[in-house]
Amino acid sequence: MIFVNFKTYKEGSGEKALSLVKAIEEISSQNNVKVIPCVQAIDLKTISTSSKLEVWIQNIDPVEYGAHTGSILPEEVLEAGAEGTLLNHSEHKVQNFEDLKMMVARANELGLKTLIFASNLDELSKVCDLAPTFASYEPGELIGSTTTSVATAQPDIIAKAVEITRAKGIPLIVGAGIHSSEDVRKSRELGAVGVAVATDIVKAQDPKKELLDLIEGFK
Ligand code: G3P
Repeated sequence: MIFVNFKTYKEGSGEKALSLVKAIEEISSQNNVKVIPCVQAIDLKTISTSSKLEVWIQNIDPVEYGAHTGSILPEEVLEAGAEGTLLNHSEHKVQNFEDLKMMVARANELGLKTLIFASNLDELSKVCDLAPTFASYEPGELIGSTTTSVATAQPDIIAKAVEITRAKGIPLIVGAGIHSSEDVRKSRELGAVGVAVATDIVKAQDPKKELLDLIEGFK
């Protein structure tokens, strides 16, 4: 399983986002590996209606219908076709744990899946108590690296992350600097069920080629 986080890269926005989703769809349909584009709120409806892939959004806010100017309403995310939401990414940290709890509760009420990010093992343990669909260990300092991945730099920490998540029955995703089939293979050997990736796919000259390489790590 590969989560592709489109972030707010130019290459992952608007028309470019749609063409990237089409490329991902082509490659994932030819291989037996689930790939989930995680897109911006503004692109969600266009992409979900144009693609057969399961599409996720990058965030929701802990609000209900009402006076919450600028918020991303979970109900509308569902209506726009998302099947799940990323939460607490290190680029969009939730400052208050009660808010994160409410985001997961709102997602659960509506049937939206959740992936909560954690930047360290203490945080990972805490977010697993919220029983998300997936938890992800992603050290902020390696995000965006094209040379060093969490899999090569922190195998011991991934192994501990696997212990924590397994004990709580949550599948682990790892991310940060993932850019090769070897990174994926290593992560899976250590016990992760999948990876979260951005740079390697979203900013690639040839995203299909890079995705095929990552998919090799599942074989
Ligand atoms: O959510 C995944 C993302 O933060 C990883 O980014 O650029 O290191 O693949 P990157």
